[in-house]
Amino acid sequence: MGYDFAGTVEAVGNKVTRVRIGDDVLGGVSIKESGAFADVVVAREDDVVKKPAGLSFEAAAAIPIVGITAYQALFNKGNLRRGASVFVHASLGGVGRSAVQLASAHGATVAGSCRPGSASEARALGIDPIVDFDFDPATLQQKFDIVLDASGTLPVKTARKILARKGRIITVKPSPANMARSALPGPFRVVIGQPSTADLEAIAQAAGDGHLRPPIAQVVPLSEAIPALTSLEQHGTAKRGKLIIVPG
Ligand SMILES: NC(=O)c1ccc[n+]([C@@H]2O[C@H](COP(=O)([O-])OP(=O)(O)OC[C@H]3O[C@@H](n4cnc5c(N)ncnc54)[C@H](OP(=O)(O)O)[C@@H]3O)[C@@H](O)[C@H]2O)c1
Repeated sequence: MGYDFAGTVEAVGNKVTRVRIGDDVLGGVSIKESGAFADVVVAREDDVVKKPAGLSFEAAAAIPIVGITAYQALFNKGNLRRGASVFVHASLGGVGRSAVQLASAHGATVAGSCRPGSASEARALGIDPIVDFDFDPATLQQKFDIVLDASGTLPVKTARKILARKGRIITVKPSPANMARSALPGPFRVVIGQPSTADLEAIAQAAGDGHLRPPIAQVVPLSEAIPALTSLEQHGTAKRGKLIIVPG
């Protein structure tokens, strides 16, 4: 199992030019093959970028999949421009929070939804206004250039009501209905995070610059990964954020 990783390069194939033995890197393995929950990981050169020096290995391992998904939702699907307005549904999850941070760093204004008890956390991220998950769209005065559903639970009707003219609705949920909607002309798009060295470099740089910091809920050694994953599946984490598995 496992997609995201960070670590130090131990060996490279003879055609590899972008990274060298001893480089500190972050990246992902293919979802199909997986295998990042391990002491040693084999990855394609295109899926690996250098880790910014100021970023810990734990923080670096927390960003690839949520960062790429948020980045591609905003920039590839949403054509995010400076000064745009963005609404992020589920703004404190891995993808949601990454989108909030990347959009803010790009000069967008960001509104979003979260649980009622989490509003202060959302406020600290600069989200304004903040609404509950099941908000009434009539209570929002503003229309948004991008409505990003980062949990796949926002009713399409609600998303349409808060969308600005020529805006985009983007969802992380590739359900058959959403795939069909996104194939039709109109504002609806599904984001499916795709491997991209350039996008991985962009999020690594954002993390290095301090603009992208997914929270870490728990760090466990590999020997304790199975109970930690089981508990995550059954109860979530006690604290919001990523479960990080370290060698040992
Ligand atoms: N398409 C892609 O390429 C792609 C890539 C990565 C992830 N995903 C999908 O994106 C989704 C989010 O992933 P993630 O890694 O960000 O997960 P995550 O960190 O667990 O975040 C999930 C978010 O959903 C919120 N949530 C829980 N119940 C909700 C409800 N009833 N209504 C609205 N929001 C609710 C959570 O809020 P609380 O924290 O308050 O519970 C949290 O903010 C998952 O469905 C995942 O499968 C898709």
